Parts: sequence; C-alpha cells; structure tokens
Amino acid sequence: MILVTGGAGYIGSHAVLELLLAGHEVLVLDNLCNSSPAALQRVEQLAGRAPHFVRGDVRNRALLKALFAAYPVSAVLHFAGLKAVGESVREPLRYYETNVSGSIALCQAMAEAGIFKLVFSSSATVYGESPVMPITEERPTGVPTNPYGQSKLMAENVLKGLADSDPRWSIGLLRYFNPIGAHESGLIGEDPNGTPNNLLPYMLQVAVGRRAQLNIYGNDYPTPDGTGVRDYIHVVDLAQGHLKALERLEQVAGVSVWNLGTGRGYSVRQMLSAFEEVIGRPLPHVYKPRRPGDIAQCWSDPSKAREELGWEAQRGLPTMLRDAWRWQSRNPRGYAQDKATVAGATQTALAS
Ligand code: NAD
Ligand code: WQD
Repeated sequence: MILVTGGAGYIGSHAVLELLLAGHEVLVLDNLCNSSPAALQRVEQLAGRAPHFVRGDVRNRALLKALFAAYPVSAVLHFAGLKAVGESVREPLRYYETNVSGSIALCQAMAEAGIFKLVFSSSATVYGESPVMPITEERPTGVPTNPYGQSKLMAENVLKGLADSDPRWSIGLLRYFNPIGAHESGLIGEDPNGTPNNLLPYMLQVAVGRRAQLNIYGNDYPTPDGTGVRDYIHVVDLAQGHLKALERLEQVAGVSVWNLGTGRGYSVRQMLSAFEEVIGRPLPHVYKPRRPGDIAQCWSDPSKAREELGWEAQRGLPTMLRDAWRWQSRNPRGYAQDKATVAGATQTALAS
C-alpha cells in the first residue's frame, strides 16, 4: 500500500488516480486545508475504486504512528505542503512548520515503522536564478528568494542528511517545473483558493468570466519576446513520473534527484496565444511591471529522468491547455459545486 500525503490536492489527486489505475492500494492523508474531498470522489469515479482516506495533519506524530500501525504501507509519496509564494513571505513560520517540520515528523514515523521509501515533491525553485539553461540536476542549488522556496531546499537537505545517516533509506527528490493541465476526463483539476498566483489558473478564470483580465507581469525580460519563459508540464505526465520514481526506488538506495519537466520553455505571450487558440477568442490582458522575485527564464534538462526512470513527458502544450480548459469550463467554480462529503472514499477514524 502506498501512502499519499496531500493526496486530495491538485497534483496528489492525479497521482492517486494513476496509482489506483496501476493496481496499487492507496491511503491518502490530507487535512484538506487547500483541497476538497470531492476530488477523491471523482478519482474513485474514474478509477472504479476508492483510495482509503484519513483526514489529518502530516505534523501529527500520534496520527502517523496509528496510521502506520493500521495499514501495511510500503512507500510514501509526500505531497502535503503549502505552496503559495506570496503567502510564505507573510507567514514564514507556517511554511517552515508544514513543509520542513511536517517532512521531519513523517520521516521519523516512517523510520519507527520500518518504512524507508519516500518520494518528495520538490521544485525547480531550489535552483534559484540559474545562469545556464536548460537546468540539469548537476546545477548547484541557488538561493530561493522566499520562504516557500527556502522550505523546499531545507526539506531536501534534511532528506539528504537522513539518507546519508542510514543506508536503508531510498529517497527520490522530484524537482517539478511548472505543472499545469488536468485529467483528460475534465473531472479533476486545479482549484485554487482565492486569487490564483499562477499563470494558467489565472488565464482560465479570466476565460470563464471570474476575472476581468490577465495581468502580464513584465515584457522587458531578456527573452525572445520580453515575457517570462517557463517549462510547463502536464500534471498527468508529472503524476506518472512518480510511479516511475517509486519503481526505481526499489533498485537504488540513498537520495536521487530527478527533474520533471518537458525540456521546452514557453513565454507568457506564447502561452496566451496558444490558450486563445484553444478557447477560440481573444483573452483580455494588460501589461504590468515585473512581479517581485520572478526570474526571466527556467526550463529543464529532463534527460536524467528519461535515462534512469524511463520516463518522458508525453503531452505537448496544446494538450495541456485543452485539458485544463475542459476541466475549467465544465467546473467553472472548481469543486465548489460538489456536495463536499467524504462518503465516496473510505474514511477511517484514527486517533488524532
Ligand atoms: P495543493 O495545495 O493542491 O496540494 C497540497 C495538499 O496538501 C492539499 O490537499 C492540502 O490540503 C494538503 N496539506 C497541506 N498541508 C497539510 C498538512 N499539514 N497535513 C496534511 N495535508 C496537508 O498543491 P499541489 O500543487 O498539488 O502541490 C503538491 C506538492 O507539490 C506541494 O508540496 C508543492 O509544494 C509541490 N510543488 C507544487 C508545484 C506547483 O506549481 N503546483 C510546483 C512544485 C512543487
Ligand atoms: C509563470 C510566468 C510570471 C501569473 C511558481 C512558483 C514556483 C512553483 C510554480 C511551486 C511568470 C507570469 C504569472 C500572472 C503572469 N511552485 N505570470 N501573470 O513563478 O514560474 O513558479 O509556481 O513550487 O515555486 O514560484 O509560475 O505560473 O506564477 O508564473 O504574467 O497572473 O507567468 O511572471 O513569468 P512561476 P507562475
């Protein structure tokens, strides 16, 4: 059985679906602070069976202990965390506590239970502003400019030290580039709380009329058209990368780092034109000054994951945008229209 922390969230729910489709038993631990139980009901609808679900906090050591005693967990995918860059500047302690202390509590409970396989959701943000593109895993980590990025780098370092200290550990650090898109069914997708921070969720909300216009932050970057360039990756490709990483961790010990990206960068203007093509109309937009802390460009060299995991992103930008649009246009208010209960997924009461 695979424990998926944060499995009700955007990326976690897509990973839970892929795990179920591949025949795994899945246990989700999520406190639902940034997600809806409706996501897991829809995963059940798609997979034809439900993951086990425990509502709880990854920092809760007693709960983790009870969970590992109750379920035969053999490996953990650790998505649970906070991810809003601006919020992390305002509430740094909450970010360090969840992202760093939460990871420490999880590893302590895993070690006590004799579980030593872990896949951690890291981020390309740990590279900081790399002067070299594309970015390989050999590039030194940089200096993230916000507590969110710092917390991911700190968690990576904690996990490296842990694996150095005990050869039983087998840990994959997956550095995601920019995850976008949704499952092709249009049933699960990204449903941000409040004003979206990220480009595609913002464009989607403009397209369904929830926001007036897209703000393009900066058109004076040293990039071909002056707008920021990123490596966008389909969330289903990303989820499948986790299954490949799990397989690989059966064979290798210690810490392994893998970039999960496509190896291609697109500018904000290219994203906008491709999205307008998908929705068949122009999207209102306005140019604004650069957003503080943004870098000009960032894209991956994904060859290490291809060689070591046998994984490669399959879905190109038009598919990412079509799938995202299918999700958003069918669910203009995300999961809010669902009667959010956990009736579908098997919820277990454990001491918390
Ligand atoms: P998300 O917010 O949709 O999912 C995170 C899930 O974790 C949510 O369901 C939330 O309720 C849960 N959670 C948060 N704190 C928890 C806690 N203390 N205990 C239990 N559950 C908790 O975010 P996502 O986009 O799916 O991201 C998943 C992971 O990937 C995060 O660790 C994030 O930092 C990382 N990541 C995300 C991106 C991105 O752009 N989405 C990029 C790089 C890395
Ligand atoms: C992409 C491009 C913006 C919004 C962030 C985090 C990173 C990672 C992914 C978790 C940039 C521009 C954006 C808008 C815009 N998260 N933009 N108007 O900044 O690459 O990465 O999310 O690990 O840590 O920093 O992604 O989608 O916010 O921005 O013009 O309304 O779109 O300036 O060039 P980013 P993004």
